[in-house]
Amino acid sequence: MQFYCLYVSYLDLIMSDTIKLKIDKNNLPKHIAIIMDGNGRWAKAHGKPRVFGHKSGVKSVREVTEAAAELGIDYITLYAFSTENWNRPTTEVVALMTLLVETIRKEIDTLNKNNIKLLAIGDISKLPAKTHKALIEGIENTKNNTRMTLVLALNYSSKWEILEATKKIAQKVSSGDLKLEDIDESLFSHHLSTVNIPDPELLIRTSGESRLSNFLLWQLAYAEFYFTPIYWPDFDKAQFYNAILSYQNRERRFGMISEQIKS
Ligand code: IPE
Ligand code: IPE
Ligand code: MG
Repeated sequence: MQFYCLYVSYLDLIMSDTIKLKIDKNNLPKHIAIIMDGNGRWAKAHGKPRVFGHKSGVKSVREVTEAAAELGIDYITLYAFSTENWNRPTTEVVALMTLLVETIRKEIDTLNKNNIKLLAIGDISKLPAKTHKALIEGIENTKNNTRMTLVLALNYSSKWEILEATKKIAQKVSSGDLKLEDIDESLFSHHLSTVNIPDPELLIRTSGESRLSNFLLWQLAYAEFYFTPIYWPDFDKAQFYNAILSYQNRERRFGMISEQIKS
């Protein structure tokens, strides 16, 4: 059994390395956003409680973060908890918030070793005090890292974010700090929580769902979407490389025609 497991993981390694070699290093997305979905269904398929699925999903977070940093991706944004997720059973919400504290604390050393900066977007002031504290500590302890930025979307809602930006801009206009004519796409982007972060070129959603669930509506306006039926805990480096390969095989026309892109 032990030999079989070793053999399988060795095969996995060879397979993911073979896929990795196909990636064009000159055409990498700078920013990849991921809706990590399917933890609950994965757990159910394994005859386990939902929380077991969330715990198993941490391994995928680690794999994807490592793979992205190795490739030279600048930003990874992970949808970890939406504003709508508060509507789940209290036991699940509590378990998720506890898991967040444990994971952030446990991973800080690895993030620092790998020179990865942690950031968060969303209404984080409304998180439970312990989760908020662990998050702020994680952000503070990794703030000088420069290789890649890992953004966690926590208590995040894109509609909330857009409304917040609108309110801030309206306030500046009414106080005379801004003129109506000053409002353009760039100014608006600078009032979102993703300020100074380039828009994601690639969005990945696992678990077979084809929706955005209130995630980065403004920022994903021209992103390529990659939907896979794989549940998040089964999403590994090879799956991640496949998503990037799919992105690299697409023609991003930005309203133009194919011939203009090729010339
Ligand atoms: C994603 O997995 C994790 C969070 C939303 C926190 P789900 O918990 O949504 O798993 P499914 O979609 O119920 O299978
Ligand atoms: C989206 O997943 C939010 C996160 C991955 C954190 P959900 O599982 O909550 O999305 P819906 O409810 O199926 O749209
Ligand atoms: Mg889900």
